[in-house]
Order: sequence, then structure tokens, then C-alpha cells
Amino acid sequence: MQETYLVRDINLAPRGDQLINWVSNKMPVLDELYEKFKPAGAFKNKKIALCIHLEAKTAYLALTIKKLGAEVWVTSSNPLSAKDEVAAALVKKGIHVYAKHGASLQEYWSFLESILKNKMHAVVDDGGDICEYLHKHSEYGENIMGICEETTTGVNRLKELEREGKLKYPAIAVNDAKSKHLFDNRYGTGQSTWTAITHLTNMNVAGKSVVVAGYGWVGKGVAARARGMGAEVIVTEIDPWKALEARMNGYRVMTMACAARIGDYFVTTTGCREIIRMEHILDMKNGAFLANAGHFDFEIDVPALKKAAKSYKVVRDEVEEYLLDNGRIVYILARGGIINIAGGFGHPVDIMDMSFSVQLGCLHYFLSADKPEAKLHKVPEEIDRLVTEEKLKVEGITIDK
Ligand code: NAI
Repeated sequence: MQETYLVRDINLAPRGDQLINWVSNKMPVLDELYEKFKPAGAFKNKKIALCIHLEAKTAYLALTIKKLGAEVWVTSSNPLSAKDEVAAALVKKGIHVYAKHGASLQEYWSFLESILKNKMHAVVDDGGDICEYLHKHSEYGENIMGICEETTTGVNRLKELEREGKLKYPAIAVNDAKSKHLFDNRYGTGQSTWTAITHLTNMNVAGKSVVVAGYGWVGKGVAARARGMGAEVIVTEIDPWKALEARMNGYRVMTMACAARIGDYFVTTTGCREIIRMEHILDMKNGAFLANAGHFDFEIDVPALKKAAKSYKVVRDEVEEYLLDNGRIVYILARGGIINIAGGFGHPVDIMDMSFSVQLGCLHYFLSADKPEAKLHKVPEEIDRLVTEEKLKVEGITIDK
């Protein structure tokens, strides 16, 4: 019989078990939703694919869905965020995993193919790649009851498909639930981005100038945590309201062309292409650190830097040093990929407890629905409220009615 997994090394499973065990008693909201959904049996004998950053919290979501009776297939939405030990442990626990840390783009798409040809009933997507694949290969989409999208970039891609009248499947904007973006994008990315940067560099942030590109939910979190660590924070924006909001929150606001000369650390959080380009990098101070917290690795123009630099070398794990013609050096962290995940452990466990509870609620919504319409759905208010109320309970907080 053909094996239905592909991981780097199955012998890494014990280390993966340890990581999964650590998170497994720290996601009480997800456990509560599991208890609520179990009696209805909506997940029984359904095939569910997850295409999210494959690390321990994702593993716990996969195992929870399996416990509800589904067959679960998993890949990582970004090869740089796939943890090989977690992938191995999941295989041992009966999940079909196709993922390898650092896989090539070609391998990544072949993982999606290996999963989707088994004709899923629902998918959890993070960034929109699985959705794109299903639109290009509709022969694999005949069972699809719903696509649950985790992040801003993926939701934007879904909105575009819907605007163009090309959306073929029911989809839901998990990111837009209040219980997701208000906490995950802001506090989760805020904390984990700085955990990753300080871990990779072993350098001080207090008293330094931090440039945050974008003042959306992620940017707000990254800026607030930098300020909390004692940095001077500069924000760059293209949206006049967000720019003014950043100013009134006490940050300096200017163009990237001006900020480039001042920053010690640069963090992009826009979801858009080429926010930091060669013309900016050439103006930077010697020793500047560049990181990206947006979904894709195209916010810092690393390919142009590679071409223009006199030389570059890896100087620490996930730290590349580039020597420029002007004699200065700059450092690229986590290869310009999503810093908190590719260069760290991702969001705090108790933040992902909320985001993945919304995911489970949305999967349940689609699997129990009678032929949901092929459009972009909003997360139902009752799911959004349930997750936040359960979280308040966990925190021991009672509020007025
Ligand atoms: P958002 O839409 O709330 O914010 C993006 C901001 O970037 C907007 O205010 C926009 O005006 C600004 N922007 C766009 N182009 C710009 C430019 N050229 N210069 C300066 N600012 C610019 O989106 P959100 O939720 O903050 O997400 C941002 C990115 O982070 C997305 O790619 C999202 O998928 C990703 N994300 C990453 C997470 C992580 O764990 N690292 C977690 C959640 C989201």
C-alpha cells in the first residue's frame, strides 16, 4: 500500500511529541469547543485538510479534528515554518502529513496535490494557496463544503476572487472574526515577532529606533511591543487614517525613504510587495536588522539585495549578513520570511487557542450546513462570541450584562 505521508525523518517523532504535549493542556477554549461539537457528529468520516504553519499548535488542532471523527491531512502553508519533528509526530498519531522544512516551491505544490487529490470535504487555508490550487484543479473540489481562511492576505485573495465572480466554493473569512484579528494579529504577532528577533540576534532593543512598515493589526502589535521594550518607534503607512492614528498613538510617522536612514530594526507588516527596496537599503545604517512579519516573503526585496551585495553569508541561524558596495552591512532575518514563525515558535499558545477555536467553529458551521452558498461568508456572530466568552471564562473574568 502506498504511504500517505511524506516527512523529512520519522525518527524525529519523540521530540515532536514533547512539543505537542506542551501545548496540549494550554488550549482550553479549543477543548471546550470540542466537547460542544462532539455530540452532533458533523466531523465523522469527513476528510479535512489543513494548510497552516505546521508546528505544535497546528498539530493540536489536527488531533482535535481527528478526535471528532475526521480523517485529517496536513501540510505547512510555508515550507520555512514546517517543523520536521512535529510533522513526524503527527504521522505516528495517524495524521496524513506532507511537509518538510525548507521544501522547494515545486515540492510545496506537490504536497498540496498529494493531499487534495483525496478530495477533501473542507480545508483550513492560511494565505490562500490551497484555495488557488482548488480553483485551478476543480476535479479535486467536488466534495468541498467550505474553505476556512486564517489570515488577512488569504482573505484579500478570496475577496478578489469574489469581486471577479470566480469564487467556486463556500469560504469563510476566519481572520475577520473579532476573536481572531484583534488578538492573534495584534498581540500574538506583536509578542512573537520580538521574541523571534531578540532570540535570533541576541541584541538589545531598548533605546534603538524601530521602523514598522504598516499600521494595520499586525503593525499595531509590533509597534506597541517595540515601544514596551523601550525603543523609539517610527511608522510608515500609505493609508492617511492609519498614519494619523499612529501619530496620535505617539509614534513618529514618515516615509520609508526618510525612515531608512534612522532605523536600527525594520519590520514589514503590510502583506504587500517590495516595501523595503534597494534604494532604501543603500541608505541604511551599518548593522541594520531587517525582518518581515507579513504573510509572504516579498516585503523586503531580498532577491535584489542578493544581486547588489558584494557578498553575503549566514552568520547565525536564520541571520544573513550582506556586505554592500558602500562598505556597510545589513542583516536579513529568517530570509525575509514570516519572522515569528520561520525564525521562532510562532504565536503564543494561548493566542492560537482562540484563533484555532474560531477555525474549529467555522469547520463545524460548514460541515453542518445544508449546501452553503459559494460565496465569502462572515464568521457567524455566535461563533465569534462563543470563543471570546469561553476565553473570558478561562481567564476568570466576569463582565456586566
Ligand atoms: P491590515 O490590512 O490590517 O494592515 C496592513 C497595513 O499595511 C494597512 O494599514 C495598509 O495601509 C498598510 N500598507 C500597505 N502598503 C503599505 C506600504 N507600501 N507602506 C506602508 N504601509 C502599507 O493587515 P494585518 O492584519 O495587519 O496583516 C498584515 C500582514 O500580516 C498580512 O500579510 C497578514 O496575512 C499577515 N499576518 C501575519 C501574522 C504573523 O503571524 N506573522 C499574523 C496575522 C497576519
